[in-house]
Amino acid sequence: MKKISLVAVIGSPISHSKSPMLHGYWLRKYGIDGYYIPLDVRTADLKNVLAIMPKMGFVGTNVTIPHKENVLKIADKISDRAAIIGAANTLSFGSKGQIYADNTDGYGFIENIRQHQPEWCATGGPAIVLGAGGASRAVVSSLLENSAPEIWIANRTRARAEKIASDFGARVKTIDWFSVNNFLPNAETLINATSLGMFGKPELTIDLKPLSSKTLVVDLVYNPLKTHLLTQAAKKGCPIVDGIGMLIHQAVPGFSRWFNVQPTIDTALRNMLLS
Ligand code: ATR
Repeated sequence: MKKISLVAVIGSPISHSKSPMLHGYWLRKYGIDGYYIPLDVRTADLKNVLAIMPKMGFVGTNVTIPHKENVLKIADKISDRAAIIGAANTLSFGSKGQIYADNTDGYGFIENIRQHQPEWCATGGPAIVLGAGGASRAVVSSLLENSAPEIWIANRTRARAEKIASDFGARVKTIDWFSVNNFLPNAETLINATSLGMFGKPELTIDLKPLSSKTLVVDLVYNPLKTHLLTQAAKKGCPIVDGIGMLIHQAVPGFSRWFNVQPTIDTALRNMLLS
């Protein structure tokens, strides 16, 4: 009998998630007999839901807020990168319902840069990472994996940045949120991993005057796509990368694992997600 693969994204709330649209696009593009659906799951139900999903035909699931950290307590096997980040976004189920937890956000971050700025290399110099939440941890882990010589983290709440530095080791240092300017001239890469600049949130207002025009500026925010930070950086002549591509690229490893097709990223997909 032909097997129809089911995959979900679980979180709460979940209706805003772009993942069903993204995976649905690839399912149609490759003519795959499968479904990808959003499931609103409360924290109290998380364990039971993950136990029952494989029995219902689910081969895996994406995980989003507020379950990304909690799933690590339930998973049977955790990838090294999910363990160091302290969160998972991609789960695969084994034949007996075992849960394998991975985090593909850092992969998505790097692949998005590779696609849009192929000459960039993490080894080229220090990176400044603004923010110290889950997104920041994924970015830091992937920069280290790609041999960035140093990473400087600035966060409004300094203790969270210091926690990342102590978790990730000597190449990661903290800098003061209000003195980012002093570090700009030597940065190879500047990344906004805060929620500042997102629709409905305050603007990220750092003075980019000291920034070299060679510095790559990446914003993880994709709503709006052209943030104030990216607009200012582009005016200076800096290479820039926006946030929607990270969302797309982080989905690739999950899709290929669940549906056995390595999906490619095209402009129509990007436009659909932005529409
Ligand atoms: P995520 O898991 O997506 O990274 P998060 O854990 O809520 O989300 O992190 C949001 C980031 O944006 C944090 O670095 C947060 O700073 P704090 O750790 O000080 O909360 C940052 N952020 C949010 N609002 C901010 C603001 N008004 N000014 C400065 N930083 C802000």
